Amino acid sequence: MKLRVDLLPHGSYPDVVLVIDALRATTTAVTYLERGAQALLLTSTPEAALALRGTRDHLLLAGERGGLPIPGFDLGNSPAGANTPVLGGRTVVMNTTNGTGAAHIAAQSGKHVLLAALTNAHAAARRARALVTEGIAIVCAGTEGRVGLEDVYTAGVLAEYLLAMGEFTLDDGARIALTVRRGAGDPGEALAGSDHGLYLTTLGLGEDVRFASGLSTSTVVPTLVRGGDAPEGTL
Ligand code: MLT
Repeated sequence: MKLRVDLLPHGSYPDVVLVIDALRATTTAVTYLERGAQALLLTSTPEAALALRGTRDHLLLAGERGGLPIPGFDLGNSPAGANTPVLGGRTVVMNTTNGTGAAHIAAQSGKHVLLAALTNAHAAARRARALVTEGIAIVCAGTEGRVGLEDVYTAGVLAEYLLAMGEFTLDDGARIALTVRRGAGDPGEALAGSDHGLYLTTLGLGEDVRFASGLSTSTVVPTLVRGGDAPEGTL
């Protein structure tokens, strides 16, 4: 089977897609579900998220632009956020600069769309391996159209786990991701030294970077559910 890594989102996808935005959207998505959120709705715009306000009980709006909370939202996008309210049983509507958009691109053609980060890397690789029949694409969200070291490094971690689980033929993107994983130090160094990690640290969000560096600390794998009661335009 084929294993492909897209250094930025594009095009059409095989049956299993792993979407990565390690700093911070997919790390945050894993954390919200880990902390008891009942469901996540990923919108393509902040306006779509705001329009959902009041459409169902116990909604929370979470997201960021430029790393900072979106006005009118309840939460920013901090996976380490100590002040995150009780999430049990609540639905969180998420919209972020890059990560939720990457998930929407993947959902246009991917049959199984999973959200992956360092924090759920092994569980995400196991789930992808269990689901795949044609091939796996690992999609790096990047930051505003630029490749992100943190996402490519995470893709390399996922690729390593998958290679230990079965036979895959790699594309150049996968080989690049594995090289980055093997050359960029430990997860903490790679994420802290990335452009977006450095930027978040200047915003005082270094704790999020450290949190997002935790390797396989969660077994939660956010998975896109099609149909159901998800409103139009959300995932
Ligand atoms: C993203 O979507 O790229 C991230 O959410 C950005 C961030 O949280 O800083």
